[in-house]
Amino acid sequence: MLKIHKVSARIAGITVLRGIETEFSPGQLLAVVGRNGAGKTTLLRAIMGLLPLSSGSISINGTDIASVPGHRRTEFGIGYAPEDRVMYPTFTVEENLRLPCEVLGLPEAEIKRRLERVLDVVPQLEPMLARSGAALSGGQGKMAALGRALMAGTKLVLLDEPFQGLAPVLANQYAESLRKLHQLDPALCIVVTESNRSLLRDLPDATLTLERGELVEGEALTH
Ligand SMILES: Nc1ncnc2c1ncn2[C@@H]1O[C@H](COP(=O)(O)OP(=O)(O)OP(=O)(O)O)[C@@H](O)[C@H]1O
Ligand SMILES: [Mg+2]
Repeated sequence: MLKIHKVSARIAGITVLRGIETEFSPGQLLAVVGRNGAGKTTLLRAIMGLLPLSSGSISINGTDIASVPGHRRTEFGIGYAPEDRVMYPTFTVEENLRLPCEVLGLPEAEIKRRLERVLDVVPQLEPMLARSGAALSGGQGKMAALGRALMAGTKLVLLDEPFQGLAPVLANQYAESLRKLHQLDPALCIVVTESNRSLLRDLPDATLTLERGELVEGEALTH
């Protein structure tokens, strides 16, 4: 579905992704693991068009998305929960969740349908909907960021280190949400990055390992 072909990228003149070659397939729950600074966030940002490629290409179902600007990549059904999760503080949680769909210009009935799906998968969000985006704890913000990524991500969801810093109870709930999502939507591809792979427990059905911007064979020691 999403093909990453010989992708390299530089930040401030330094090469941080080197010749990444891989493919994300429908129905996968894929982990991307690697030490701090290995390039996990950069890879997700490159997919989202938030960082120019220095070489290589990224395509979705055969369409090269190089010319598609970042703000239009959600049109491909890609949802993204960044590491820093940013909820807009002047909007309610519900407004934050709706935002990617409203940017896409989806009809109200479709937005409602997606919101119901999100609340089915992440029921903890229900009592938070009317609250301000600024009124959430770190863990609640992560749940809300997952919800927002799911509002846009009908084909692919990219979650950047969601388990980092989550209290054990919330981490269990988060893992439970991902399991449920995987069951409810068997064609959805879910990609989760993590520097501490033990936090992922038995969730992923495949794992890619990044080392200094390169994909390596086997499983590196990450901690
Ligand atoms: N804004 C930036 N300016 C300069 N260098 C950067 C910047 N962002 C990332 N880098 C460098 O790019 C490399 C990859 O960083 P990246 O954030 O993708 O790693 P990561 O695997 O997500 O790490 P972490 O586990 O800490 O989130 C690192 O060497 C990092 O120092
Ligand atoms: Mg990162």
